Amino acid sequence: MKLIFLGPPGAGKGTLAVRVKELLKTPHISTGVIFRDAIAAKSPLGLKVKAVIDAGKLVDDETTIALVKERLSQADAQAGYILDGFPRTIAQAEALETFSVVDKVVNFDISNDGAIERLSGRRVCRKCGFNFHTIFNKPKKEGVCDFCGGEVYVREDDKPSAVTKRLEVYRVQTEPLIDFYCKKGLLVDIDASPLVDEILVGFKKALRI
Ligand code: AP5
Ligand code: MG
Repeated sequence: MKLIFLGPPGAGKGTLAVRVKELLKTPHISTGVIFRDAIAAKSPLGLKVKAVIDAGKLVDDETTIALVKERLSQADAQAGYILDGFPRTIAQAEALETFSVVDKVVNFDISNDGAIERLSGRRVCRKCGFNFHTIFNKPKKEGVCDFCGGEVYVREDDKPSAVTKRLEVYRVQTEPLIDFYCKKGLLVDIDASPLVDEILVGFKKALRI
């Protein structure tokens, strides 16, 4: 199944995707993760996008579309995928239609306050990328990943000024995609406010899987 996960920053797209990829045996492709890996590796892409991402703004469409087009051409993405965080603009959504046919767009419904609460407590493993939370999912030992022993840190764009910017960018540039995909009959809404086990139940029901 070819899925898009659409929703504001902090909605829990990445957290649910980790569960769904096991279930559907499809790759989880997060543009945010690809960009953060590139930044950590100090690659040309990472050097190009670091300042934009840290400020909570969007990377330009041309760069992002080329990246996703290349990733979706790989063998493991032919039968299905979870696209997390792409598309984020109408131009990206229109470009995607030229190189892939999506089955469903899962819209994560969460309040602004709910998203802020999740972002402000998020802690991420520098090595394996697992998302912890200071209230909802604490690492057993503070600052250390339960799974790989990596350092657990605060994402640069989870600092308050960048969070405000990201939510604003979402409302202006990404939210119009809800209407875009609704008109195409592809949109499936899920309540993203409960804990992840409950969201997974709602997800399966909504997609009839
Ligand atoms: P990206 O990494 O995609 O960030 P985002 O969309 O802002 O989303 P987040 O990763 O912040 O939130 P999430 O919904 O995945 O929540 P999570 O599961 O972590 O993008 C980063 C940046 O890259 C962008 O700002 C932009 O600059 C650039 N970029 C990426 N894609 C782009 C594109 N297409 N075009 C242009 N630029 C692009 O959960 C959050 C926290 O809540 C965690 O701590 C988690 O443990 C906790 N949590 C999750 N679910 C629950 C739950 N159900 N109950 C309790 N706690 C929960
Ligand atoms: Mg994410």
